[in-house]
Amino acid sequence: MAGLTVDRPAGAAEDWTIPQDWDSYSPQDHAVWDALFARQAALLPERAVKEFIDGLDILRIAKPGIPNFEDLSERLMKRTGWQVVAVPGLVPDDVFFEHLANRRFVAGRFIRRPDQLDYLQEPDVFHDVFGHVPLLAHPVFADYMQAYGEGGLRADGLGAIEKLARLYWYTVEFGLIRQDAELKIYGAGIVSSYGESLFALDDPSPNRIGFGLKRLMRTKYRIDDYQQSYFVIDSFDDLLRQTVEMDFAPLYEELKQESTIEADEIIDEDHVFNRGTQDYARSKA
Ligand code: PHE
Ligand code: FE
Repeated sequence: MAGLTVDRPAGAAEDWTIPQDWDSYSPQDHAVWDALFARQAALLPERAVKEFIDGLDILRIAKPGIPNFEDLSERLMKRTGWQVVAVPGLVPDDVFFEHLANRRFVAGRFIRRPDQLDYLQEPDVFHDVFGHVPLLAHPVFADYMQAYGEGGLRADGLGAIEKLARLYWYTVEFGLIRQDAELKIYGAGIVSSYGESLFALDDPSPNRIGFGLKRLMRTKYRIDDYQQSYFVIDSFDDLLRQTVEMDFAPLYEELKQESTIEADEIIDEDHVFNRGTQDYARSKA
């Protein structure tokens, strides 16, 4: 994920990549991965979109231990032309977009400690690889991610990064989808979190609202806790039609006149699947 302005660490290449250095993971590192994997593997077949579960299988992510990015890239490359490359942590927006536009997904190489299974602010290799990579084996989602990178480079020049980042947040990270007349999860931030995998689908607290591009680009989000609203797409094809096939430049112009929507707000035009009680957010306030 992109963010912040930080200096490129010594040892990182010009494009910010570093070797994954797979041999340097300790047995404890692999055990943390295995523990996280076992928990999500038990929870997700019923809850995640079918294409995510297929991706785990295609990429053999069930194999014990932290995946080796070279093996992963080889399988992905054959399927959709994507690669996974390691970076030291958050990278600048333009670097992030440039990688995506070239079908390279940047992943953190470090893994959380055993006492951080449930919560971690910075994305680690479990979030980045388990959360994001399976859907890159799906051709439509793979195209969406590349187009997002291209759109990012463009948004940069149009002063619209903040708007576009909201799209990433509410789709790639925290998206829900309708499949077989049920809501399922596909966002990486949800599938890689035990608590949010339950919360996003079952809890009465958050809003669940039909995807609307302009609406969503006006909506704030929280980075420190479970989401207060989730947006539901009809299918990956539909997501593509509403984003990749649209010219965002006029939309960014229109958005300059529009007010911002709070993370928990519902507006008249919304197609509401579930009007949240927001009890959870209130209990934490
Ligand atoms: N179509 C968008 C544009 O014109 C780019 C984009 C594609 C953004 C896919 C997000 C996802 O800028
Ligand atoms: Fe992420």
